[in-house]
Amino acid sequence: MPIVELSGIRKTYGRGGFFRKQERFTVLRNVDLSLRAGECLGLVGRSGSGKSTLGRIMLGLESPDAGSVKILGQDVTGCTRLPEHIRRAVQVVFQDAIGSTNPRMTAGEIIAEPLRNFDKLQGTALRERVAELLELVGLSPDDAGKLPGRFSGGQLQRICIARALAPSPQVIVLDEAVSSLDMLIQAHILDLLDSLRRRYGTAYLFVTHDLRLVRRFCDRAFFMSDGNLHAFDPAKTVDMKGSKVLEELFNAILPPMPDAARRQGNSGESVAV
Ligand SMILES: Nc1ncnc2c1ncn2[C@@H]1O[C@H](COP(=O)(O)OP(=O)(O)O)[C@@H](O)[C@H]1O
Ligand SMILES: [Mg+2]
Repeated sequence: MPIVELSGIRKTYGRGGFFRKQERFTVLRNVDLSLRAGECLGLVGRSGSGKSTLGRIMLGLESPDAGSVKILGQDVTGCTRLPEHIRRAVQVVFQDAIGSTNPRMTAGEIIAEPLRNFDKLQGTALRERVAELLELVGLSPDDAGKLPGRFSGGQLQRICIARALAPSPQVIVLDEAVSSLDMLIQAHILDLLDSLRRRYGTAYLFVTHDLRLVRRFCDRAFFMSDGNLHAFDPAKTVDMKGSKVLEELFNAILPPMPDAARRQGNSGESVAV
């Protein structure tokens, strides 16, 4: 049984404002996706192509306009509050570590929150588990007492990763979660995630713009364009010279050439991928 199963997912948002007539635009057209235990699924695509939307739908944080979302075999489409065993099973790490941590909570409190909620841990058992998780992501147990402002962006991101690992989830959505880490730490975190999937069958949706990481870390991969998922072989992105798939793939992940951007009226700003 897949841990997460999406079928026929469609999502539209309204564009326009108070004075102009709202128009709908479609972010996801008809997306089918299933994620099994121990699987790592890579997802690439231009900024704005709908990767995070798909991630949020997969986490049950947002409802699709059509289609169904099943998590651990249970249909949770349109659920406003997910059952506790599902909330625990599906965790997420966003790219924005600062925005996803409370500046007034210490690192230890941030990591302790899911342990208190889901495992009812307290006292020494709680402190020991927090220390263990800090060490797992390459930080020190002494860091538990520090506030987020004392950490670098990469360190804070590791605290978010420790918080996601805390409830021993079955799926983690990593939404550009390792992009801000330097290469050594990135390698350390990816090794850690790899060992968790071998040991416990943890599955990942790995959203990134780095094809090397997809190649190194993912079993299957998709690029998102025009609201659809297109599969590609993560191992073959290098041997596909001249291939239509590779061309589309690069079109999906690279920003437009400066010339093309100017023609589109984009005044030379860089386009985040
Ligand atoms: N809550 C929302 N309301 C309106 N538009 C949204 C909302 N969330 C995302 N969008 C729009 O949907 C599109 C896809 O966004 P997103 O899923 O964040 O893309 P990606 O993660 O690939 O950059 C973008 O055009 C974005 O502006
Ligand atoms: Mg995104």
